[in-house]
Amino acid sequence: MTDWSNTLAFVVFPYLAITVFIVGHAWRYKTDLRRWNAGSSEFLHKGSLKYGITIFHWGALLTLIGHAGGMLIPQRLYDLAGISASAHNFLAYWAGLVAGLLMVPGVIWLLARRLKQERIAAQTSFNDYLLLVFILLVSAIGLYNVVFTHYDVLYSVAPWIRSIVVLAPEPGLMEPVPLSYKLHILTALALLGYSPFTRLVHIWSVPLTYAYRSYVLLRRPA
Ligand code: HEM
Repeated sequence: MTDWSNTLAFVVFPYLAITVFIVGHAWRYKTDLRRWNAGSSEFLHKGSLKYGITIFHWGALLTLIGHAGGMLIPQRLYDLAGISASAHNFLAYWAGLVAGLLMVPGVIWLLARRLKQERIAAQTSFNDYLLLVFILLVSAIGLYNVVFTHYDVLYSVAPWIRSIVVLAPEPGLMEPVPLSYKLHILTALALLGYSPFTRLVHIWSVPLTYAYRSYVLLRRPA
């Protein structure tokens, strides 16, 4: 990649995606709060949802935790905790494999169900399909990287992400990175920017209070 295209891809584009992500959520919250939800389709066809949605969500949550823990925390802190780079890579490989093998079949299941079940297909918008195809693309490239590419991200992609977070971008770190990793990152950034305009907004409304809510009392009428 030439210098300028590397800067465009790994400085300009990430900040653009992050800005759209933040402003987009604020705009959606202000203007479209009534549709700020997961858009459940359970009542349209329950049986076909259970397994797909469960394996998909376990994969997605593991992916989010793995990416945050593995990339945002510098390797020197892992070293201090006694976790060497090779142990870290070993852990990342197995966690990535499990997450990918849950998420990719999970999202294919959710897509197939929307296409196959008539009642759900009738309620599915272009945006719903696009979101699932987008997630499939990002997660399938991620899984491909885990299985076939084996590139060490600890001293390249990870410090680049941290440089973006602390507003001191170092695009040079991304130059030697294999194309399939670059594609994974660019599609993931595009998904980040697209997410405020989809049902993914439900991620920010995790029903944590549900665990300690008051009981609902049901009484027979006297
Ligand atoms: C944080 C905890 C989360 C909770 C409690 C949650 C809950 C839900 C619920 C209740 C549904 C609706 C299922 C239905 O009845 O049709 C749903 C759908 C969905 N969730 Fe989550 N979710 C969470 C995190 C995530 C994450 C991290 C992702 C990341 C990609 C995600 C992606 C999706 C997608 C794409 C759908 C739509 C599936 C479809 O189109 O059929 N969720 N979620």
